[in-house]
Amino acid sequence: MDVKNVTVVGLQWGDEGKGKVVDALGRTCRYVARYCGGANAGHSVNVRGEKFALHLIPCGILHPGVVNIVGNGVAFDPAVAWEEIEGLRQRGVKVDETNLLLSASAHVVMPYHKLQDSLSEQSLGQAKIGTTARGIGPCYADKACRSTAIRLGDLTRPDEFRAHLRIIVENKNRLLSALHNAAPLDSEKIADEYIEFGRRMSKMICDTGSILRKACKAGERILFEGGQGSMLDVDHGTYPYVTSSSVTACGIPAGAGVAPKNVGYVVGVAKSYASRVGSGPFPTEQDNEIGNAIRRRGKEFGTTTGRPRRCGWFDAVALRYAADMSGVDEIALTVLMDGDDTIETFRICTAYELDGRRIDEYDPSLPLDKVKCVYEDWPAWKTPIASARKFEDLPSEARAYIDRIEQLLGRPVGVISVGPPRDATLLHHSALKGFI
Ligand code: GDP
Ligand code: IMO
Ligand code: MG
Repeated sequence: MDVKNVTVVGLQWGDEGKGKVVDALGRTCRYVARYCGGANAGHSVNVRGEKFALHLIPCGILHPGVVNIVGNGVAFDPAVAWEEIEGLRQRGVKVDETNLLLSASAHVVMPYHKLQDSLSEQSLGQAKIGTTARGIGPCYADKACRSTAIRLGDLTRPDEFRAHLRIIVENKNRLLSALHNAAPLDSEKIADEYIEFGRRMSKMICDTGSILRKACKAGERILFEGGQGSMLDVDHGTYPYVTSSSVTACGIPAGAGVAPKNVGYVVGVAKSYASRVGSGPFPTEQDNEIGNAIRRRGKEFGTTTGRPRRCGWFDAVALRYAADMSGVDEIALTVLMDGDDTIETFRICTAYELDGRRIDEYDPSLPLDKVKCVYEDWPAWKTPIASARKFEDLPSEARAYIDRIEQLLGRPVGVISVGPPRDATLLHHSALKGFI
């Protein structure tokens, strides 16, 4: 199969190892483009023993020759981005307008968005979403509101921007004071700071959609890098415990400015178990010693916030739904567990039960907090797997587990990740042989 463009999306609740997979597949691509989310994302890449945590900069940045694009659908925080750019440069990674381009139409996360996010969460108490406090929801809310939004291109027109910001900040100050008794923000100070960000990044700010559309016409390979995970999608996830953008492959045309047919070959990333950060239903959650053991083995602490992740078993019901949503062609299975003496058996959820009724198909209207999981038990493997480089190197129990996942999802497991490093990756039933 001749694969041109590739999409990498998360199939669970985020942190599936998308960064690792994008880095592994990115080498042969001309462009790596983000299309959703913002600095709520934390994508880890491990290159020659060095760990990089990327939030806004696409994971192709570590491959020389790849042009990285932040699409119009991203909620762009210039303060985080600038820190990330400087951090990468200090570590010897080239970042300039030849390998990083930012959409002029991307919406800007402003200081008041972050404030709104955390104050709103505080005031909600038990009902909070458990956001990353990166201002994502309020930024997208202003995008939909239009009159109170700032786009990246606006920062390069200082006079208009300053005048517009005065009106917005006055508005926000009234809102934040009335709702949360917050101290007023100084619009002039914010304007100075953000005009400076616009100046520093001006050479990178452009019409990225047109660049990607030309690349599609010219047959240059694009990799679309998803943020978050399908179950956090604003439309199709476990609403309201979701993020605020379209994170599945359905979000690519709108979030990157390309036609739907250019989404290409879709790789859905899933861990061999499940994790979730923040509030919301999680049917296979193990809030017990098993969950603690999974967290310990998988080092499940947030890349962005450091919060301990909730851990549980692989949920094939939700996974099938997520894979169908993005039209997933093959699965990349990551963080294959090994060697924890407290885990004798790995479980896979194959169906839900509600009021004695068996449910095989995920339905977004299901009361997920009430369903019971139907599990299959699979013997755990105890031998280390980090040095496996082909399927046959894996212990027989691991191979049986992967075969079963393929069956349950009705899709090949193409990529198998056996550790954080770039080369701890093996191809199984994959159409991506030329990529790695
Ligand atoms: P992302 O948000 O989907 O990119 O995932 P994160 O980077 O937030 O979290 C995934 C974590 O798992 C990171 O710490 C990765 O380095 C790590 N990781 C990825 N693949 C593997 C793997 O195969 N084995 C192990 N043990 N860790 C992995
Ligand atoms: P990556 O790209 C895991 C979760 C938050 C919270 C909900 C809403 O690293 O997989 P938000 O700040 O977006 O308003 O929070 O979504 N969330 C993520 N969880 N990985 C992510 O990104 C996430 N991005 C958002 O924890 O539950
Ligand atoms: Mg992450």
